[in-house]
Amino acid sequence: LDDPATDPFAVAADAAADIARLTGVERHDIALTLGSGWGKAADLLGETTATLAATDVTGFSSPALAGHVGSIRSILTPAGKRVLVIGARTHYYEGHGVRRVVHSVRTAAATGAKTMVLTNGAGGIKPAWTPGQPVLISDHINLTGDSPLEGATFVDLTDLYSVRLRDLARSIDPSLDEGVYCQFRGPQYETPAEVQMAKIIGGHIVGMSTALEAIAARQAGMEILGFSLITNKAAGIQTTPLSHHEVIEAGQMAEPVISALLARVIGQL
Ligand code: 6GU
Repeated sequence: LDDPATDPFAVAADAAADIARLTGVERHDIALTLGSGWGKAADLLGETTATLAATDVTGFSSPALAGHVGSIRSILTPAGKRVLVIGARTHYYEGHGVRRVVHSVRTAAATGAKTMVLTNGAGGIKPAWTPGQPVLISDHINLTGDSPLEGATFVDLTDLYSVRLRDLARSIDPSLDEGVYCQFRGPQYETPAEVQMAKIIGGHIVGMSTALEAIAARQAGMEILGFSLITNKAAGIQTTPLSHHEVIEAGQMAEPVISALLARVIGQL
């Protein structure tokens, strides 16, 4: 993937073939990326029929960060859908390039998945949002300055986060709020001034993932659903310093609620 002469879609096709061979599942219907706080949120989806180490699949690198799970699972839902659960997100801040960041999404598309569910743990700008609260992503602002698209690949991003799927999620939990996700490069959290900038330009959620992946998912023709777990208020919105520990803790607290939510939403897809 690091060689510009390599076709990233060919690598994704190889990865999808690895997944088919190792899981015994020829095609998946839905893909789900687990962000921080969401590690156990797939446990209620159905029966796990196979668990792979991400390192056994072409192009995947293993994440070392606490709160991130380096496995890929195949789940069979009660409705008979095959869900590819990606617990091995590569973050842009790891510096391995945007091709690695979106490789899991392209692989998911190559396994046949038509729906991409992206989840993350993020900071909240809306003062009413409290840690442990899941919100829908309605749109994003990509502040990385990078793109997964190479060359003159002009992709429309209108309704990138499916209106239909957001409506479906709200039919299951009418209390779900939504907001615009700002992807910063990280890995440092934002300064209070950067959070104010995000707010002024129309952002409600700050994080370090998802936007680049959503762009790749749209390019692949998938329908996208995005959830942020608000793990903390963003810098300057809360007065106490942010810590990775609090991000992990909010995830653990929210686990039963977001697991049930995901199971019900994915059960209806
Ligand atoms: Cl406040 N910012 C970013 N970029 N990512 C986060 C976060 C904040 N809280 C959890 N993840």
